[in-house]
Amino acid sequence: MSIFASVVTALWVMLPAYVPNNVAVIAGGGPPLDGGRTLNGDRVLGDGKTWRGTVLGTAAGTLLALVLNGLHGTVSDLLSVSLPTFPVLAAVGLAFGAMVGDVGASFFKRRTGRGRGTAFPGLDQLDFVVGALVIAALVNSSWFTSTFTLPVLVTVFVATPLLHVTTNVVAHRLGLKNEPW
Ligand code: CTP
Ligand code: MG
Repeated sequence: MSIFASVVTALWVMLPAYVPNNVAVIAGGGPPLDGGRTLNGDRVLGDGKTWRGTVLGTAAGTLLALVLNGLHGTVSDLLSVSLPTFPVLAAVGLAFGAMVGDVGASFFKRRTGRGRGTAFPGLDQLDFVVGALVIAALVNSSWFTSTFTLPVLVTVFVATPLLHVTTNVVAHRLGLKNEPW
């Protein structure tokens, strides 16, 4: 697979996992997932992880995958790259997995005494990728192994932190996010 094909495929296949966290930032708020509960004096997750953000983020990522399925032929022809389609389970797995990864990172931050909104370089950029990949692999392993070839996986892990940093700085500048991470 050429580098161009790897990059295009990696971005395409991860779009349903990139969108949920950004939608959560815009659409989130309301009752927190942890219901305000604490664990050894610290919040289980904190007010930054809400039901609305999680549900709408997952829905948006899933919906985007279905839209991409519709555009699949056109975009593949246009770029001369044979892009993958998203079976519904894989779509939900990527979108929900991205949210789960982000929630998992908050859980970890709270257990290590880090308050809401603290940066954790590395974790902040990759939590949702790992979550998306793990859940997608669990719900549709045959799709996962045929889609995430080694070059695609490597590209995902290199390109995602760069994209994540860029979009978060933009979201911060636009006043959508409190911190630029
Ligand atoms: N958000 C949400 N539900 C989620 C994830 C995010 O509602 N599952 C919204 C919240 O309003 C949150 C904002 O998106 O404040 C930014 O997300 P993020 O940076 O992940 O949360 P933080 O507030 O920084 O909290 P944490 O330290 O727990 O990551
Ligand atoms: Mg944050």
